[in-house]
Amino acid sequence: MTYLASPNRYKDMIYRRCGRSGIKLPAVSLGLWHNFGGVDVEENFRKILHLAFDSGITHLDLANNYGPPPGSAEENFGRILKQDFSSYRDELIISSKAGYHMWDGPYGEWGSKKYLVASLDQSLKRMGLDYVDIFYHHRPDPDTPLEETMSALDLIVRQGKALYAGISNYPVDEAAKAIAILRKLGTPCLIHQPKYSMFERWVEDGLLDVLEQEGVGCIPFSPLAQGLLTNKYLHGIPEDSRAAKSTGFLQLSQVTDERIAQIRQLNDIALKRGQSLAQMALAWLLKDQRVTSVLIGASRPEQLADSLKCLDNIEFAKEELDQIEVILK
Ligand SMILES: NC(=O)c1ccc[n+]([C@@H]2O[C@H](COP(=O)([O-])OP(=O)(O)OC[C@H]3O[C@@H](n4cnc5c(N)ncnc54)[C@H](OP(=O)(O)O)[C@@H]3O)[C@@H](O)[C@H]2O)c1
Repeated sequence: MTYLASPNRYKDMIYRRCGRSGIKLPAVSLGLWHNFGGVDVEENFRKILHLAFDSGITHLDLANNYGPPPGSAEENFGRILKQDFSSYRDELIISSKAGYHMWDGPYGEWGSKKYLVASLDQSLKRMGLDYVDIFYHHRPDPDTPLEETMSALDLIVRQGKALYAGISNYPVDEAAKAIAILRKLGTPCLIHQPKYSMFERWVEDGLLDVLEQEGVGCIPFSPLAQGLLTNKYLHGIPEDSRAAKSTGFLQLSQVTDERIAQIRQLNDIALKRGQSLAQMALAWLLKDQRVTSVLIGASRPEQLADSLKCLDNIEFAKEELDQIEVILK
């Protein structure tokens, strides 16, 4: 089957400027952490990628360790990129990251220049790319000086192996320091990728303010709390869900009775708004203009289609927001 992108692909997507940069990102971006690895079904993830691009999702997010096995998501994506998207490369923002464990020995994780440069070279080979658009440091390293890690990002951008630099999982103080160092080096930080959803709101305690002041974009990951903020777990734990899979990162212990009760109440509000819970959870993040894009996952094309409809309504009445706050407290 030859893939031809839909001529209507830019019709319905909203694009938001990423901080004070020249780049606009789609309000919904797709991540390849789960569902695109060596253990997954190619026909399915290829369809998800087609639907994403046909819907105006120009931003695809990867990392060295995505799979399982680690590296396999980049390999699979590289193959599909070559086969289906090679003529669309300039319409895509492709990101990768390094920070978590990738290979044995002292240079296979964290934040040294040695690790970051070597890891990106490996990622480029796996994906068959000359450059990625965004390269992130995936998590702060308590032992490597921040100056070294940021100078590795600066080097990588100067070498043309990445166009922009980003940070992920950095708490507010370290984020502010990293942003300042990068600015001094002449490679401004494009974007921060934190975990942010209705169930995980630490970014509201200062990080979003810093990013706004500094002109850095924000792309929340796991905005659906890995599927908890959907209709998936309303009536138990489906066999094919992330929580039930041994390769998934959502633990069964996170699906507590208390959580389910909250999810049911949120679902009632979503239904009154004429949305699915997933759509409302994403809209709730996008109501804040400081959020550049929500970085979702999907295990099926139907989920992606459902989530994308969040864009039909990202406005909330004050009473709806108040009711949501009461449920989340
Ligand atoms: N920087 C970091 O440290 C970091 C960490 C984690 C993730 N990320 C990035 O963020 C991306 C998204 O993370 P995530 O996959 O955890 O995001 P998520 O959007 O919170 O969860 C995605 C999961 O939710 C379920 N789902 C999605 N849409 C649904 C819908 N409309 N209806 C019902 N269920 C739905 C599916 O679960 P089932 O599989 O159960 O069907 C899907 O796999 C990753 O791919 C990665 O790019 C970054």
